[in-house]
Amino acid sequence: MSFERARLMAIVLGCMGVVACGGSEPAADEGTTCEGLPPLELKDTYRVGFAQLWEDHGPWRDANTASMRDEALARGYDFEFDPGTSADPAEQVGRMQDLIDMKVDAIFIAPHDETVLAPSVVQARRACIPVFVVDRAVDTQIAIPGEDYVSYLASDFRLEGELAAEWLIEATGGEAKIIELEGTIGSSPGVQRKQGFDELIADEPGMEILVSESADFNEEKGYEATLRLVEEYPDANVIYSHNDAMSFGVITALEELGKVPGEDILVVSIDGTRKAIDYVLEGKIGVVVECNPKFGPVAYDTMLDYARGEDVPLRVNNVDRVFDINNAADYLPEAY
Ligand code: AHR
Repeated sequence: MSFERARLMAIVLGCMGVVACGGSEPAADEGTTCEGLPPLELKDTYRVGFAQLWEDHGPWRDANTASMRDEALARGYDFEFDPGTSADPAEQVGRMQDLIDMKVDAIFIAPHDETVLAPSVVQARRACIPVFVVDRAVDTQIAIPGEDYVSYLASDFRLEGELAAEWLIEATGGEAKIIELEGTIGSSPGVQRKQGFDELIADEPGMEILVSESADFNEEKGYEATLRLVEEYPDANVIYSHNDAMSFGVITALEELGKVPGEDILVVSIDGTRKAIDYVLEGKIGVVVECNPKFGPVAYDTMLDYARGEDVPLRVNNVDRVFDINNAADYLPEAY
C-alpha cells in the first residue's frame, strides 16, 4: 500500500482518540490511540528516542549511535538512549517500551530481530508516536510500512553483496574458491549480502563457495570460524566476510595459521571502518564495500519532512561506495 493511500485510509478509518494522519496535525492527547500513522507537530525542538539493537561496542555500531546522538544534540533535540546490556532482543523490546512510556516525540529503531521487535513498532504507533526504522528491517507482515512506521532508512544490503562480488570477479578473473562468513542468521544485512553476492557469481562457473556459515557479525566468532574453516578447506583462496568486525578476526586467524592475508587468501569485507581501511592500505584486505553508519542527518531530515506534511518515501536508501587500494587513502579522513 502506498504512503499516500495509507495516510488516506487512516484518515477515513479515523482514530479512537480522533487523531488524523499526516505530519502537521497537532500532537495526540494523553490516552488517545492512533489507528494510522501518528501526526508529528512541526516544532523548533524535539525529544527523540533511539532504540539501538544493542551496544556491542564494535566500531560500526558505535559510529551509528554517535551519529544519531551527535546530530540530535547539534540540532538542540533531547536524545533519549539506553545502550542496553545484552544482545537478547527481548531487552530491546523493554527499551522500546521505556521510550513509549516516556512519550517521546518520535522513535528511531534499529531492530535486532525483525519479528520480535515488530509488535513494539505497532505499539508505538498505537501510542501515537511516529516510528522511523533505521539500519535493520522490521517484519512487514506485522509492522506495515506507511501504517505502523513512517519510513525505513538503510543501506541497500543486497547491492553491497553485489558490489563485493563484482569487485572479486574482476580481481580474480572469475576464478575463486570462497569461504563465506555470514552475518547474524536471519538479519537483513546477513540475508541480503548473501543473496546479492550469490546472484552475481551464479553466472561465473569459476567462482565457487566452498562453505558458508554465520559468524554473527562478531570478531571472536570470525576468528574461530577462520581457524577451523581454513584447515577444513585448504583450497580456499578467498574469504568473503559480511562485516569488518568478522574480518578483523579473519586477519588475526590467518596470521596465526601462518598465512599471508592478501597473498595466500584474499579478504573481502563490508562496512568501512578505519581499521579495515588501514588493512586495505597494508594489502591485508582486498576490498571494503561501504555500509554507511552515519544515519543522524538523514534520519532527522526525514522526520522534519514528515512533520511538514511532505511526502516521505517508505524507503530511504543510503548510498554506499567501494574502497580498494586505488581510493582507500582518500576515504581515510572520514573513516571511523
Ligand atoms: O546492520 C549493519 C551491520 O550491522 C554492519 O555491517 C555490521 O557491522 C553491524 O553489525
